[in-house]
Amino acid sequence: MLTILFVMIAEILIFVPSAANYRLNWLRDHVESGELASLVVQAAAEQAVTSDLAMELLETAGVVSVAIKREGVREFVLGAQVAQPVQLLEDLREHNAIKAILDMFGALAAPPGRMIRAINSPRFAPVEFVEIVVSEAGLKADLLQYSIRILWLSLIIASVTGSLMYLTLVQEVASPMRRIAAAIAKFEAAPQDVGSIMTPSARKDEIGQTERALARMQEQIRQAFAQRERLAQLGAAVAKISHDLRNSLAAAQIVTDNLSASEDPKVRVAAPRLQRAIERALNMAAATLSYGRTEERMPDLQPFDLLAGAEEAAAEAFAAHPRVIWRNDVDPSLLARADREHAHRIFVNIMRNAAQALEAVAEGQGRPQVTARAARLGDYIIIEFVDNGPGIPERVRERLFTPFVASQKKGGSGLGLAIARELARAMGGDVTLERTSSAGTVIGVKLRVADVDVGGSNTADVPLGYS
Ligand SMILES: Nc1ncnc2c1ncn2[C@@H]1O[C@H](COP(=O)(O)OP(=O)(O)OP(=O)(O)O)[C@@H](O)[C@H]1O
Ligand SMILES: [Mg+2]
Repeated sequence: MLTILFVMIAEILIFVPSAANYRLNWLRDHVESGELASLVVQAAAEQAVTSDLAMELLETAGVVSVAIKREGVREFVLGAQVAQPVQLLEDLREHNAIKAILDMFGALAAPPGRMIRAINSPRFAPVEFVEIVVSEAGLKADLLQYSIRILWLSLIIASVTGSLMYLTLVQEVASPMRRIAAAIAKFEAAPQDVGSIMTPSARKDEIGQTERALARMQEQIRQAFAQRERLAQLGAAVAKISHDLRNSLAAAQIVTDNLSASEDPKVRVAAPRLQRAIERALNMAAATLSYGRTEERMPDLQPFDLLAGAEEAAAEAFAAHPRVIWRNDVDPSLLARADREHAHRIFVNIMRNAAQALEAVAEGQGRPQVTARAARLGDYIIIEFVDNGPGIPERVRERLFTPFVASQKKGGSGLGLAIARELARAMGGDVTLERTSSAGTVIGVKLRVADVDVGGSNTADVPLGYS
């Protein structure tokens, strides 16, 4: 439809000047006919032309009167002075495109009975100019007829062009797009099925590129699905093994409990070590099981007092490590927007790691210490846990947050930091290793700041100092 409209607009742009030209030519033709008629009159002896002949000549020429200018004198050759006044003078010797177009519209809208006087240079006679008077009605009728012819022609051209354009669009764009849409829908229904991957055409244009990109993307998604499936199966298998392992270990634990009461001194000495080993194995089996089950509940984000939160976590984390000196330097005004329970688990995991690392610090090597401090940074609060332990071993650093792989400790499952990061990210924050060296380790927890105004206390950005 649009194509037809555009073609019509183009046709109108062509029509206007051509109709103006048609009008000028029409007038020129009539002046010429008038000139021929005047020649006939002059050829007749002494210009004695009967009035019947004169009428016939004028009718043939289609004009009302003819005059010529010869040797500076303008004289009537045929017809008389017209009764009606002549309303329009057209000098065909002058060229003005704009005037021609305006006059053409004027002619189409002309009132009936208007007369035009048209002047042009002669073609045959040796005179200065030929002048005719002609009724505009004839011109108007011819011009209208011409316009209608052009209009029909334009309509035909526009419809043919429009149809061709439409067919081309359907063929080249719409059907390939439909094919792509169908391929997407098919893939959506069965992404694991190799058969749902689109077969791209050999087209080189954007549509061909889209098809190929879509096919590639579908293949990647299919593989990701397949991998997810395999991992899920693997996870299920691990969970089953851990479950059965835990049961066997629980049975072994009961036996070792009895061993410590054994008569045999060798057995009595070995029993506690065996017990510890079994306990660690049990813990790992339990941790694996609980990680496999992780569909953590959605965090319930509430204003969370960081100072109190850190204090509570420290009480839990350091209970088994009385040597560790705990310093809580968190600004009491800082409120995070966090899930209480999740934040607690994050803090305990990090602090317990520090405490476990500090075990390695020998008695004489200074006091093992863990410090918490926090600062606001834009919309976030960074809370840092600083210890003066031996640092995170090089091998562990890179994959510190990957489940299971990071653990270096006996009995550690390598899940603590992975879980802590996952929980923090679910709250819009993060857990990161800020720095680690033989002088100690800093783990940072980023949490959203609670958008509560804490009574004019210090919530401005405070740079963290590192001691
Ligand atoms: N503050 C720290 N100082 C030194 N090493 C650390 C510190 N924190 C973590 N690590 C190292 O990173 C490893 C991974 O810690 P993560 O908490 O993820 O697992 P884990 O403590 O071994 O086991 P889990 O916490 O599941 O019982 C630890 O085994 C330890 O080697
Ligand atoms: Mg840990």
